[in-house]
Amino acid sequence: MIRDIVVYPDRRLKKISVDVEKFDTELHILLDDMYETMVAKNGVGLAAVQIGVHQRVLIINLPIETTEEQTDQPTENTIEMINPVIVSKDGLSLHQEGCLSVPEFFEDIERYEEVEVEFFDRHGKKKNIKNSEFLAVAIQHEMDHLDGKLFIEKLSYIKRKKFEKEWKKRQKEK
Ligand code: CO
Repeated sequence: MIRDIVVYPDRRLKKISVDVEKFDTELHILLDDMYETMVAKNGVGLAAVQIGVHQRVLIINLPIETTEEQTDQPTENTIEMINPVIVSKDGLSLHQEGCLSVPEFFEDIERYEEVEVEFFDRHGKKKNIKNSEFLAVAIQHEMDHLDGKLFIEKLSYIKRKKFEKEWKKRQKEK
Protein backbone atom coordinates (compact mmCIF):
# COMPACT_ATOMS: atom_id res chain seq x y z
CA MET A 1 0.00 0.00 0.00
CA ILE A 2 1.29 3.43 -0.93
CA ARG A 3 1.38 5.68 2.13
CA ASP A 4 1.41 9.46 2.44
CA ILE A 5 4.80 11.15 2.78
CA VAL A 6 5.26 13.46 5.75
CA VAL A 7 6.57 16.75 4.36
CA TYR A 8 8.66 19.54 5.95
CA PRO A 9 7.99 21.41 8.25
CA ASP A 10 5.75 18.72 9.80
CA ARG A 11 6.92 18.22 13.42
CA ARG A 12 6.65 14.43 13.10
CA LEU A 13 9.90 14.50 11.11
CA LYS A 14 11.73 15.81 14.20
CA LYS A 15 10.75 12.94 16.46
CA ILE A 16 13.44 10.36 17.27
CA SER A 17 12.56 6.83 16.17
CA VAL A 18 12.79 3.83 18.49
CA ASP A 19 14.45 0.44 17.96
CA VAL A 20 12.40 -2.35 16.41
CA GLU A 21 11.92 -5.23 18.83
CA LYS A 22 9.68 -7.60 16.91
CA PHE A 23 10.64 -8.88 13.47
CA ASP A 24 7.11 -9.91 12.63
CA THR A 25 4.49 -9.61 9.87
CA GLU A 26 3.74 -6.05 10.91
CA LEU A 27 7.36 -5.09 10.21
CA HIS A 28 7.26 -6.89 6.87
CA ILE A 29 4.11 -5.02 5.83
CA LEU A 30 5.78 -1.75 6.85
CA LEU A 31 8.86 -2.57 4.74
CA ASP A 32 6.74 -3.58 1.73
CA ASP A 33 4.66 -0.41 2.01
CA MET A 34 7.82 1.67 2.28
CA TYR A 35 9.17 0.13 -0.92
CA GLU A 36 5.90 0.74 -2.79
CA THR A 37 5.77 4.33 -1.54
CA MET A 38 9.41 5.05 -2.40
CA VAL A 39 9.06 3.73 -5.94
CA ALA A 40 5.74 5.55 -6.49
CA LYS A 41 7.35 8.84 -5.43
CA ASN A 42 10.57 8.28 -7.40
CA GLY A 43 12.76 8.18 -4.32
CA VAL A 44 16.00 6.26 -3.82
CA GLY A 45 15.61 5.88 -0.08
CA LEU A 46 13.00 6.17 2.64
CA ALA A 47 12.93 6.10 6.43
CA ALA A 48 9.81 4.91 8.29
CA VAL A 49 9.45 8.30 9.98
CA GLN A 50 8.72 9.75 6.53
CA ILE A 51 5.45 7.85 6.49
CA GLY A 52 4.80 8.72 10.13
CA VAL A 53 6.09 5.50 11.71
CA HIS A 54 8.69 6.20 14.41
CA GLN A 55 10.71 3.01 14.19
CA ARG A 56 14.37 2.65 13.23
CA VAL A 57 13.70 1.25 9.78
CA LEU A 58 15.07 2.47 6.46
CA ILE A 59 15.26 1.25 2.90
CA ILE A 60 17.49 2.20 -0.03
CA ASN A 61 17.22 1.19 -3.67
CA LEU A 62 19.55 2.93 -6.10
CA PRO A 63 18.01 2.84 -9.60
CA ILE A 64 19.77 0.86 -12.29
CA GLU A 65 19.71 1.97 -15.91
CA THR A 66 17.80 -0.44 -18.11
CA THR A 67 17.81 1.55 -21.33
CA GLU A 68 19.08 5.03 -22.10
CA GLU A 69 16.07 6.77 -20.68
CA GLN A 70 14.69 4.18 -18.31
CA THR A 71 15.70 3.11 -14.87
CA ASP A 72 14.42 0.34 -12.68
CA GLN A 73 14.37 -0.38 -8.95
CA PRO A 74 13.77 -4.13 -8.70
CA THR A 75 12.48 -5.32 -5.32
CA GLU A 76 15.41 -7.71 -4.86
CA ASN A 77 17.86 -4.77 -4.98
CA THR A 78 16.28 -3.12 -1.95
CA ILE A 79 18.55 -2.78 1.05
CA GLU A 80 16.49 -2.97 4.23
CA MET A 81 18.10 -1.80 7.45
CA ILE A 82 16.55 -2.26 10.87
CA ASN A 83 18.15 -0.57 13.91
CA PRO A 84 21.26 0.49 11.91
CA VAL A 85 24.40 1.72 13.68
CA ILE A 86 27.50 3.23 12.05
CA VAL A 87 30.50 1.38 13.46
CA SER A 88 33.25 3.06 11.43
CA LYS A 89 33.56 5.96 9.03
CA ASP A 90 36.21 7.59 6.90
CA GLY A 91 36.83 10.63 4.68
CA LEU A 92 34.56 13.57 3.95
CA SER A 93 33.16 14.87 0.69
CA LEU A 94 30.26 16.82 -0.80
CA HIS A 95 27.38 15.18 -2.64
CA GLN A 96 24.11 16.56 -3.93
CA GLU A 97 21.13 15.39 -1.91
CA GLY A 98 17.38 15.59 -2.11
CA CYS A 99 14.60 14.21 0.06
CA LEU A 100 10.98 13.12 -0.48
CA SER A 101 10.09 15.09 2.66
CA VAL A 102 11.63 18.27 1.20
CA PRO A 103 10.44 17.85 -2.41
CA GLU A 104 12.15 19.55 -5.34
CA PHE A 105 15.04 20.95 -3.33
CA PHE A 106 18.62 19.81 -3.89
CA GLU A 107 21.81 20.91 -2.22
CA ASP A 108 25.38 19.74 -1.68
CA ILE A 109 25.89 18.20 1.75
CA GLU A 110 29.08 17.00 3.43
CA ARG A 111 29.10 13.29 4.35
CA TYR A 112 31.57 10.54 5.18
CA GLU A 113 32.94 8.89 2.04
CA GLU A 114 32.90 5.45 3.56
CA VAL A 115 30.79 3.94 6.32
CA GLU A 116 30.53 0.54 7.91
CA VAL A 117 27.06 -0.21 9.24
CA GLU A 118 25.69 -2.90 11.53
CA PHE A 119 21.98 -3.60 11.25
CA PHE A 120 19.33 -6.31 11.24
CA ASP A 121 17.43 -7.60 8.23
CA ARG A 122 13.65 -8.13 8.23
CA HIS A 123 14.07 -11.56 9.86
CA GLY A 124 16.17 -10.24 12.72
CA LYS A 125 19.45 -11.52 11.30
CA LYS A 126 22.46 -9.35 12.13
CA LYS A 127 24.32 -7.93 9.13
CA ASN A 128 27.33 -5.77 8.49
CA ILE A 129 28.19 -3.88 5.32
CA LYS A 130 30.90 -1.46 4.35
CA ASN A 131 30.07 1.04 1.63
CA SER A 132 31.35 4.07 -0.13
CA GLU A 133 30.15 6.72 -2.56
CA PHE A 134 26.47 7.18 -3.23
CA LEU A 135 25.24 4.27 -1.15
CA ALA A 136 27.21 5.48 1.87
CA VAL A 137 25.70 8.95 1.41
CA ALA A 138 22.19 7.51 1.13
CA ILE A 139 22.67 5.47 4.32
CA GLN A 140 23.82 8.55 6.25
CA HIS A 141 20.90 10.62 4.91
CA GLU A 142 18.33 7.98 5.90
CA MET A 143 19.95 7.34 9.29
CA ASP A 144 19.67 11.05 10.09
CA HIS A 145 15.89 10.74 9.61
CA LEU A 146 15.82 8.14 12.41
CA ASP A 147 17.23 10.80 14.73
CA GLY A 148 14.74 13.41 13.59
CA LYS A 149 17.21 15.27 11.40
CA LEU A 150 16.82 16.56 7.85
CA PHE A 151 19.60 17.29 5.36
CA ILE A 152 18.63 20.96 5.24
CA GLU A 153 19.79 21.25 8.86
CA LYS A 154 23.34 20.70 7.62
CA LEU A 155 23.24 23.76 5.36
CA SER A 156 25.24 26.87 6.16
CA TYR A 157 23.33 29.75 7.78
CA ILE A 158 23.12 31.67 4.51
CA LYS A 159 22.01 28.68 2.44
CA ARG A 160 19.41 27.75 5.05
CA LYS A 161 17.98 31.29 4.96
CA LYS A 162 17.83 31.08 1.19
CA PHE A 163 16.04 27.74 1.43
CA GLU A 164 13.43 29.03 3.92
CA LYS A 165 12.72 32.01 1.67
CA GLU A 166 12.36 29.82 -1.41
CA TRP A 167 10.19 27.34 0.50
CA LYS A 168 7.79 30.03 1.76
CA LYS A 169 7.50 31.46 -1.72
CA ARG A 170 6.73 28.04 -3.12
CA GLN A 171 4.02 27.35 -0.51
CA LYS A 172 2.28 30.59 -1.48
CA GLU A 173 2.32 29.65 -5.14
CA LYS A 174 0.54 26.35 -4.41
CO1 CO B 1 15.22 12.16 3.21
